[in-house]
Amino acid sequence: MKILVTGGLGFIGSHTVVELAKEENEIIIVDNLNNSKEEVLDKLEEITQKKFKFYKYDLTEKERVEEIFSENNIEAVIHFAGFKAVGESIKEPLMYYSNNLISTLNLLQVMKKYNVKRFIFSSSATVYGDQGKEKYSEELSRGKITNPYGMTKAMIEKILEDLYASDNSWDITLLRYFNPVGAHSSGLIGEDPKGIPNNLMPYIMKVASGKLEILSIFGNDYPTPDGTCIRDYIHVVDLAKGHVKALQKAPKGLNIYNLGSGHGTSVLEMVTTFERVNNVKVNYKIANRREGDLPEYCADATKAFRELGWKTEKTIEDICRDAWNYEKNLL
Ligand code: NAD
Ligand code: UD1
Repeated sequence: MKILVTGGLGFIGSHTVVELAKEENEIIIVDNLNNSKEEVLDKLEEITQKKFKFYKYDLTEKERVEEIFSENNIEAVIHFAGFKAVGESIKEPLMYYSNNLISTLNLLQVMKKYNVKRFIFSSSATVYGDQGKEKYSEELSRGKITNPYGMTKAMIEKILEDLYASDNSWDITLLRYFNPVGAHSSGLIGEDPKGIPNNLMPYIMKVASGKLEILSIFGNDYPTPDGTCIRDYIHVVDLAKGHVKALQKAPKGLNIYNLGSGHGTSVLEMVTTFERVNNVKVNYKIANRREGDLPEYCADATKAFRELGWKTEKTIEDICRDAWNYEKNLL
């Protein structure tokens, strides 16, 4: 199949390109390199031993999107491109709404024009908001969303639902990711956020490598077994495989799937596992709770298994080993 992967040089997009390339697919990548580097393309070619057509275009420029569709007989689009930092979205809401919404609207309009109607969207578990559950299932409706980043995901989900209601010949899959972490086992691609990371796993790696001094664990007085927050971490390669399954197996129409492991890991468990598996020290201190954090947030991942035959295969140990293997290559 001829697939356009937007944001294909980013963290999740690049791993998905690797998995898609294992099948009989022709992959076209578009990325404006806002949060990625062109070297990733070379790494992808090294891992897969395949070449990919690459457009360094910004999806907010509709004529550029038109150009891609006019030059290629695209059959499906997997849409990763977008801004994703929660904190930054609170400071720069217009930037987030413009980029995430305009990119998506441009894509959908051009897809409609070229009669391309298979669309997979990177959504987020954040759209459930806080509903006081230990596990979130797709049957729950979207909840109260507390930041512009999350709002862009909820708004795009709604746009896609309205689009499908207007024309049910579209095949649309909304994938709600839990906490994507880890890296490719080759150590060639992974997550390398700019500046000081906000998320746990990149922060652990920067402390382990000595680039940052100490990890603050945000609260150890939550109602969880060790007092630290529990999340559903998913290895990025498992996540990437979920996209391949969605493309192959999702029923016709509009479908929503959680992509998570269904298992929770606490912050302390993550730190101690990282230390044990990699034989490195991660200095940490207990700090105040971070506003907006929930004690526990995990996927009910049974629907993706039932309908797509997909479940996570990698462990927290794999996550810690692969992430560190990638980080060491950056040193
Ligand atoms: P990423 O930043 O590594 O990748 C996104 C890519 O999109 C980047 O390479 C960036 O340069 C590109 N991009 C951004 N705006 C663009 C534009 N206007 N035109 C062209 N390219 C553009 O992020 P990621 O972690 O790989 O996330 C991919 C998707 O998954 C995003 O939509 C994100 O919101 C969503 N998601 C991510 C997480 C997570 O924790 N990483 C969780 C839930 C959902
Ligand atoms: C956050 C976003 C979510 C986004 C996800 C991407 C918020 C409220 N949510 O989720 O929308 O989809 O990232 O993966 O920002 N922690 C520490 N110290 C740190 C960093 C984190 O203790 O320096 C703890 C947090 O309190 C949390 C856990 O680690 O309990 C995971 O945090 P993080 O990686 O930021 O992910 P989420 O907050 O779950």
